Amino acid sequence: MTTVLTYGTFDLLHIGHLNILEGLKAKGDKLIVGVSTDEFNQQKGKRSLFSYEQRARMIAGLKCVDMVIPEEHWQQKADDIKEFDVDIFGMGSDWQGKFDHLNELCEVIYLPRTPDVSSTNLKNALSVINKKSIQDIKNGLDNLYDIVKAMG
Ligand code: CTP
Repeated sequence: MTTVLTYGTFDLLHIGHLNILEGLKAKGDKLIVGVSTDEFNQQKGKRSLFSYEQRARMIAGLKCVDMVIPEEHWQQKADDIKEFDVDIFGMGSDWQGKFDHLNELCEVIYLPRTPDVSSTNLKNALSVINKKSIQDIKNGLDNLYDIVKAMG
């Protein structure tokens, strides 16, 4: 039985998340995912759109995921590797080299990051839509104002 462990925020679940989780599951038999709690995200200066409970439920609902645990601080990785008898620790290539020190506890791998998609991109796209909606409403109100003014 080969156990694989990974971590992430996984806000606004997207194809990059599914690709890495499926890729990591293919490296072993059991995949454990540490999902960052809202408090930990705050420490990292991140704010997710979905709460920890929602993100954890969505990750737990994926066929390739066997277990979800909360990620509460930077130092827990070594403890989790020991507690869950982890064989492989894996992250996306944006973390290349950052966790090599865990090599003394288990194998450390980095899988290629899926290009052109991220939670940040999606959040930015959503905020553009919001700004556009606000402008549309403003234009509608300006038109209404002109009509009322013309009525005297
Ligand atoms: N990931 C990936 N390909 C992407 C986006 C993320 O392989 N296009 C991987 C990351 O490398 C990480 C895991 O998915 O191992 C969780 O990443 P997370 O930070 O939650 O996702 P991002 O979309 O990168 O979020 P953000 O924009 O907030 O950094």
